[in-house]
Amino acid sequence: MNTTKASHGQWSSRFGFILAATGSAVGLGNIWKFPYMTGVSGGSAFVLTYLLCITLIGVPILIMEWLIGRRAQQNPIQAMEFVARQEGRSPAWKVLGFVGILGAFLILSFYSVIGGWALDYLFLTGSGTFQGMTGKETGAVFEGFLANAGSLMLWHTVFMGLTVWIVAMGVTTGLERASRIMMPGLALVLLILVGYAAVATDSFGRAAAFLFTPDWSAINGQVVLAALGHAFFTLSLGMGIMTAYGAYLGKEVNLLSTARTVVILDTTIALMAGMAIFPLVFAHNLEPSSGPGLIFVTLPIAFGNMTGGTVLGALFFVLLSFAALTSSMSLLEPVVALVEERTSLGRKSAAVTAGVVIWLLGVASLLSFNHWSEIQILGNNIFDFLDKLTSKFMLPLTGLGIIIFAGWFMNQEKIRQELGLEGTAYLIWSLVSRFVAPLAVIAVFISMLLG
Ligand code: PHE
Repeated sequence: MNTTKASHGQWSSRFGFILAATGSAVGLGNIWKFPYMTGVSGGSAFVLTYLLCITLIGVPILIMEWLIGRRAQQNPIQAMEFVARQEGRSPAWKVLGFVGILGAFLILSFYSVIGGWALDYLFLTGSGTFQGMTGKETGAVFEGFLANAGSLMLWHTVFMGLTVWIVAMGVTTGLERASRIMMPGLALVLLILVGYAAVATDSFGRAAAFLFTPDWSAINGQVVLAALGHAFFTLSLGMGIMTAYGAYLGKEVNLLSTARTVVILDTTIALMAGMAIFPLVFAHNLEPSSGPGLIFVTLPIAFGNMTGGTVLGALFFVLLSFAALTSSMSLLEPVVALVEERTSLGRKSAAVTAGVVIWLLGVASLLSFNHWSEIQILGNNIFDFLDKLTSKFMLPLTGLGIIIFAGWFMNQEKIRQELGLEGTAYLIWSLVSRFVAPLAVIAVFISMLLG
């Protein structure tokens, strides 16, 4: 049985597939999370390690998730089981599929809270709230917003409701088509913001240096783990999502060049967000390491002080909310497919049921910004705990499982043919996928355990 397939059908073209995969990859991770993590983790040390992790670890895992999905033509759990059996291995490898879906479930709970922030900021910016404001003032607006649990809950509910509606009605394909316009739109608005930061502040060079001038002394185990985790998060890896998408890929599609396109788009959007935000941070003497509120404090300064900023700001948050929705639906989809398959619920009831449970967990996350800020799990509030548990542990570990399975438990000659690799290219692929990627992930975990 192939439950996820029902809502998609085969992609008509490689372009349609790239749209869908990029829709999942590009989202709050690029525009909200990447800049704030960069600020928290010391700038270039984080950025450069992240780029390295994407290239050496993210890309091979992305390719293997697609390859496994394409071969099996089934949902992620069954796909792992199918390929394991095909390779004469234990079906227990499907546990990777389960852990992945659990990860998607947990991530969506807090992702929806931040998606709600984007929706609320659409209205705040559009109504001219930030006109003429300084960084101090936009900071105060954000603080007030965080303290208001009712408002956070309202927007979290709207975002989750939209996600459930999209998945329940199976309109995901339509949404992905719409991203044909929305994604370039987002890139264009980001470009305008980068331009604004370059012209209206005197801190562009400082921001570029902060992001790109290597400062190896700032690298430590925590920074590397954060960068590794973010590489997985931003490419939607380790959750079976890309495996599920792979099931719609035609045999003729070249996985390597498709991966290159998706990764370049994803990374470019993140770096542009960084170059739009950090000049404002420095020009307005804000704290780069202020955490999850970074874009909600900085970008409104630009929107409040540039000509046409109200309209551009509203447009920016529309596009950001849209990008967040094409990611959140990809997070909900595998959870719903699993519920549908394991219970007697139909698609709509499965989507609503999963949505309600995820929504509840999201409420716990949003309360950690106000009433429950004192509640700690292993030294983190609930939001931080869920974020770290998924990005820094679950995703890299499932990813490690997938790449070890691919490199050591699958027939390499068959993979070589499916990827169409010869000679040196194949040698590099082998080295990276069998040695560099798994050893790098293992090394990060060992160095962390050793403190
Ligand atoms: N990659 C998405 C982003 O960067 C988030 C996401 C994570 C989506 C995991 C699906 C799975 O916003």
